[in-house]
Amino acid sequence: MKPASPRVVLITGASSGIGKACAEYLQGLGYRVYGTSRRAAALPPEPGPGLRLIAMDVTSEESVRRAVELVLAREGRIDVVVNNAGWGIAGSVEDTSIAEAQEQLDANFFGVLRVCQAVLPTLRRQGSGCIVNISSMGGLVSIPFQGLYSASKFAVEGMTESLRMELRPLGIRVAMIEPGDFRTGFTAERRMAAAAAQGPYHKALCTAVEVMEKDEQGGATPEAIAWRLEKIIEARDPKLRHLVGPLAQRFAVGVLRKLLPQRWFERMIAGYYGIA
Ligand SMILES: NC(=O)c1ccc[n+]([C@@H]2O[C@H](COP(=O)([O-])OP(=O)(O)OC[C@H]3O[C@@H](n4cnc5c(N)ncnc54)[C@H](OP(=O)(O)O)[C@@H]3O)[C@@H](O)[C@H]2O)c1
Repeated sequence: MKPASPRVVLITGASSGIGKACAEYLQGLGYRVYGTSRRAAALPPEPGPGLRLIAMDVTSEESVRRAVELVLAREGRIDVVVNNAGWGIAGSVEDTSIAEAQEQLDANFFGVLRVCQAVLPTLRRQGSGCIVNISSMGGLVSIPFQGLYSASKFAVEGMTESLRMELRPLGIRVAMIEPGDFRTGFTAERRMAAAAAQGPYHKALCTAVEVMEKDEQGGATPEAIAWRLEKIIEARDPKLRHLVGPLAQRFAVGVLRKLLPQRWFERMIAGYYGIA
């Protein structure tokens, strides 16, 4: 459904993958979309019909503030915020340094927090708005050698549950999309914990990451997420969690996780990633 007057959407991490697909899809439906990238130089001088890509590094409060101010100066409002920017680290819990873990959480969790804090005064003043956080199936279920990535997404899940209750009385809707594996730049951008190359888990890590990469690169392109995002934005009262991805993954995370005893579920997951 096309909005009556174009709504203003801010999507972090819109230079690639899920963010890009969502930005282009909503732009095509008539929303006024501002996407962000660390590499975007600046906003074009005059608003054009194309996607507006503006600079934002979600690990910098100053950069987030500047980007939000830029959208507000141009549009005077923000109706939808999609916290999508992120990346993943692979490595055993033992081999991942504290600095690496902090970097992961700084982007995937504190990035979401920074953007929420920057836009909320505006959304509260408006008495309306919608925040959609892109979590992951890895935010509900952890898999071997993704412990710190999952920690960042579990943190997003926890914060989003609170945020939703805090904002409901103010007329602001909050939801999450939990994607399974999709073919995006995520695989190429994956970082390995530095110590993992020499570590005791090296062989098992390589086996597990090979499965992850195969599933990601063999996955669908992320249009299904863009489609779901639009349904969430348009819903008066969207549900909190939206699993999107291959049927087998939705079944494992949405159904088996709740039905099977934890030990069986763990064995199934570990076996799938070749470390049982
Ligand atoms: N692909 C999957 O299978 C999958 C599954 C579950 C969840 N997810 C989640 O989906 C989100 C998008 O990932 P994707 O798969 O679309 O990966 P992608 O193709 O690599 O895109 C990641 C986007 O995030 C941006 N980004 C990364 N670090 C940033 C930072 N510090 N500040 C600002 N922007 C940053 C990148 O922009 P620049 O590099 O241009 O700044 C890029 O636009 C992530 O949160 C990821 O965890 C992905």
